[in-house]
Amino acid sequence: MVNIILLGPPGAGKGTQAKRISSLYNIPHISTGDMFREAIKKGTELGKTAAKFINEGHLVPDELTIAIVKERLNKDDCKNGYLLDGFPRTLPQAEALDALTLELARPLTHVINITCGTQELVRRITGRRVCRKCGAPYHIDTLKPKVTGICDLCGGELYQRADDTKEALLVRLDHYYKETKPLEDYYKAKKLLVEVDGELGLEGTLKAIKKVLGATK
Ligand code: AP5
Repeated sequence: MVNIILLGPPGAGKGTQAKRISSLYNIPHISTGDMFREAIKKGTELGKTAAKFINEGHLVPDELTIAIVKERLNKDDCKNGYLLDGFPRTLPQAEALDALTLELARPLTHVINITCGTQELVRRITGRRVCRKCGAPYHIDTLKPKVTGICDLCGGELYQRADDTKEALLVRLDHYYKETKPLEDYYKAKKLLVEVDGELGLEGTLKAIKKVLGATK
């Protein structure tokens, strides 16, 4: 059984690889970013609050973020493994996750830190387009859909996320370096952290992650 965290800066490829790994192991892909975007789309109270932070590149407050992960990890489909993408991002979140995984007897098995240089992160994020319907990521230069503006997988419309502007990205990177990067030491001390190069290309990075997980498929 694998209980995984994917760590890494915005644009490192967490979402892209999470989709592949979760379908390989048939485990739920739990992305706090996707959960917030879904709440924003539905216009819920959570969505309205989260949008104020997300659109400018700020982190959503810990208590809200921890509450949605608690509810999600409690579900039965996480019994046989789960993959967290974008959580935890702060020390209080990491500590809350420790308490939760202990309570549920669903301990972490791997923390995979996907690395990527800042210049490449800026290129990827500012050129990213996402499917409104299924969330599949594309890039205007390096991962083009067959038909401009249309998702290859479901035919949905492609759009640019509100927080994928250069201004919001600089704020997101600042939060990453100040609040999330220190978690590398937190998980190193627990002997769970493994680094994977996020600049090996989509297949190269996937292969490296599969090696860490000991995947035979
Ligand atoms: P979230 O949705 O989690 O965004 P993020 O962490 O900033 O990560 P991204 O989705 O931007 O990047 P990614 O690493 O998934 O890269 P991707 O695979 O898409 O969070 C959004 C916001 O929600 C946060 O800013 C915050 O406000 C809030 N939030 C979420 N979680 C929170 C938490 N725990 N606490 C508080 N607030 C929270 O790839 C990017 C692009 O690169 C794509 O175009 C892709 O095609 C391309 N690409 C990927 N891999 C490669 C590769 N190997 N080679 C070439 N191109 C590649």
